Amino acid sequence: MKWPNHGGQPETIKQLFKMEKGMEILDFSANLNPLGPPSWLKEALRDSYDTITRYPEPAYSSSSVSLANHEGIEENRLLLTNGGAEAIFLVAKYFENKKALIVHPTFLEYERACHHYHIDVEDVFFESENEFQLPLKYIFEKLNKTDVIFLCRPNNPTGTVVKEEELQLLLEEGKKTGTSIVVDEAFVEFLPSSIPSLSKWLSTYSNLILLRSLTKMYTIPGLRIGYIMAHPNIITVLKDEQIPWSINSMADAIVPKLLEDTTFVDDTKTWLIDQSQYVSKTLTALDFYVSPSEVNFYILQDKVHLQRTNELFQFLLRHGIVTRHTHNFKGLNGEFIRIAIRSKEENEQLLSVLRKWRNES
Ligand SMILES: Cc1ncc(COP(=O)(O)O)c(C=O)c1O
Repeated sequence: MKWPNHGGQPETIKQLFKMEKGMEILDFSANLNPLGPPSWLKEALRDSYDTITRYPEPAYSSSSVSLANHEGIEENRLLLTNGGAEAIFLVAKYFENKKALIVHPTFLEYERACHHYHIDVEDVFFESENEFQLPLKYIFEKLNKTDVIFLCRPNNPTGTVVKEEELQLLLEEGKKTGTSIVVDEAFVEFLPSSIPSLSKWLSTYSNLILLRSLTKMYTIPGLRIGYIMAHPNIITVLKDEQIPWSINSMADAIVPKLLEDTTFVDDTKTWLIDQSQYVSKTLTALDFYVSPSEVNFYILQDKVHLQRTNELFQFLLRHGIVTRHTHNFKGLNGEFIRIAIRSKEENEQLLSVLRKWRNES
């Protein structure tokens, strides 16, 4: 079966399973904010319409300054990108022909980007039997022969977060071995305030490279906004490699406005804490494994029927719910499904179908 590479493709899944075209489906496969985009965004994009008749300003100064201020870093440590995806590919280009470790199961694009730039990749795995902890000792053994490590924090698809102390140890050790640590923080805005971003370490560790995306929090995959934060010397090289006018002028115009709307992020966090705790508690009580996620998605496995994940996926689909398969996540091999946290009503719908599965299976 040719599974789609990413979530958020309910129509492809419907075709794959020969579902009726008109069938209503709830998409739990994409891990975007179900509240967003912010209500004012449509109007603001209309207002920025005139910007499309001009080339974007090459340095995207207004957006870059807003983002740097927002992060509390100097502007020369930041590069605006065409979504998190461009950030990943630009950083991979920086390490062209070098040696990388990728910590799986994780977002597929690190591997694709590494292959694209002829990076020699070794796979390492979060400890699935130990709530997806970082295999720190094993990684330390490999550091001498590694130029760069790609790590996702919070991790997609598990939603788990590598401990800050462990990352600090890794950065310290990496300093000695000349290893850079690339941390993709695409979902960092969803984290509870008690778990901060790693941006505070940028001035201490020149081997730390952070990747960001505004896509997930603001539900704007079509606008393509991301950024990289790193040592100024790295940013200078990456800037040189970036395609001119990579960020469109409407996206550039909208960044400062998005950052001003702190209420939107606060509302999201309030919704998420409430719903994620409820969903996870309910599913655990029904004997499902739920990864200890700190963000807006988790992976699930039926503890009673470990081998029946494909069946479960199709059961949910027949009941109008599409989830994210995990066949192309190394280390998961289709044995789990990834599910997004959505609105209260939608989560209730999901839970009622999973209760039905439990009663019937
Ligand atoms: C971990 C992670 N990083 C980056 C991206 C890409 O983000 P963007 O849509 O901003 O390119 C995604 C998208 O799914 C993701 O899950």
